[in-house]
Amino acid sequence: MSAPVALILAAGQGTRMRSCTPKVLHDLCGRPLIAWPVAAARAAGAGRIVVVDAPARPLDGRLADDVEIVVQPQPNGTGGAVRAAAGALERDVDVIVLSGDVPLVSAQALSDLLSAHARSGAAATLASTVLDDPAGYGRVVRAPDGSLERVVETKEPGDATPEELAIGEVNTGIYVFDGGALLDVLERLRPDNAQGELYLPDALALLRDGGARVDVQLVDDPALVLGVNDRVQLAQVRELCRRRIIEDHQRAGVDVVDPGSTIIDADVELGRDTVVEPFTVLRGATRAGERCRIGPGTTLTDMTLGDDVVVLHTYGVQADLHDGVQVGPFAYLRPGTVVRAGAKIGTFVEVKNSDIGTGTKVPHLSYVGDADVGPGTNLGAGTITANYDGRHKHRTTIGTGVKGGVHVSLVAPVELGDHSWTAAGSVVTKDVPAGALGIARERQRNLENYDERRRESAASEPLAAGEP
Ligand code: UD1
Ligand code: CA
Repeated sequence: MSAPVALILAAGQGTRMRSCTPKVLHDLCGRPLIAWPVAAARAAGAGRIVVVDAPARPLDGRLADDVEIVVQPQPNGTGGAVRAAAGALERDVDVIVLSGDVPLVSAQALSDLLSAHARSGAAATLASTVLDDPAGYGRVVRAPDGSLERVVETKEPGDATPEELAIGEVNTGIYVFDGGALLDVLERLRPDNAQGELYLPDALALLRDGGARVDVQLVDDPALVLGVNDRVQLAQVRELCRRRIIEDHQRAGVDVVDPGSTIIDADVELGRDTVVEPFTVLRGATRAGERCRIGPGTTLTDMTLGDDVVVLHTYGVQADLHDGVQVGPFAYLRPGTVVRAGAKIGTFVEVKNSDIGTGTKVPHLSYVGDADVGPGTNLGAGTITANYDGRHKHRTTIGTGVKGGVHVSLVAPVELGDHSWTAAGSVVTKDVPAGALGIARERQRNLENYDERRRESAASEPLAAGEP
């Protein structure tokens, strides 16, 4: 038998989100909602993956290349969405239907559902679950033999009776259909309900009326089927997802000191014995090796950390920190920054698009932008690269073993040769050759007896020009 096709419904308007962004593109732990069921379907062994999109095709370009998109011409309900995809279905291939807004479904739950369906030979199998608060979900009405009689919708008043509203078993919106059986009933769906929409669950009742069997498979983890319809549910689902991601890291050997104050996106990778301190946010494709210490109070997005890296109270985006690097407290690392092994970026230091050499130190109060800094160099407190002349960015090149004075401005393009020095307070506009000391500041002069002269002169009598 060929692998089932996964049909993911994502053309709904998501009006309850009250957003300009399509619902399934809202972020859940670093991925859009829609990416979650797509990943689960793929891992459960789906062959083709077909997503039903709205006419404006907001999902175009936002899905993996192997995902097919079909368009539902108007938002006339979940039944209309499947009808729009009829051309992509085959009679002898099972169809697993998922919702783009039910992100926590696991590959395991989907393969369990697929095998239950294959074993029973039913025309369709619906995944249900029991919720403490089933409000808003379709309720599962079972026949005396346990099979499905029908699903009652409850979103709008009018579809369900009080007895039906009391049912705790809900439709998860996940189903497996025999391809041919589904194609046969799709055209017979009618919008005779409170919303005036084509309800996909009505296809199940039509199959049953035609004498076919429709099974219900109870999934015992309600979290797997929590739907996101509004932002309250989005936050609830996000909280569950966040906890799970953290627990997976903890089981794999990462020490998350305070799970309650820590956010780790789904695609973050952390090595063993790495410690994540409180109030730390690890976003996107951030990767860290082993024995790192990250946080407290640190936000890293798409960062790469080697082993034994320490990052305290820092905000970093798209920077690459090699083994043994130390950063912070209170540093800002910006895209294109590479900090090589054992280097140190200290307190109130901003680094952008720069290469900081092995063992080099930028310990205090500096801005290093568009610079290439060799190994074993020490930049004094308050080193600033003036990399922008108002029109163009220019690079600063700093060699090996350079000793930078404090409060030095490096007006790019400029180069400090290997083992050169700069004097404190210099505004360096010309290259400093290897081994030289660059002094670029006014020499100090002292006015002797200044205080006495001031007291002697009358208050009205101005002092000599140039004297304060
Ligand atoms: C649906 C089910 C309900 C079930 C619940 C589980 C129906 C009528 N009801 O309700 O029984 O308990 O899911 O989460 O199916 N969509 C389209 N085109 C449309 C309308 C919706 O593609 O015209 C998509 C949506 O983007 C969404 C999914 O179908 O991903 C479900 O639609 P939604 O309106 O959220 O249905 P629910 O009211 O949640
Ligand atoms: Ca929904």
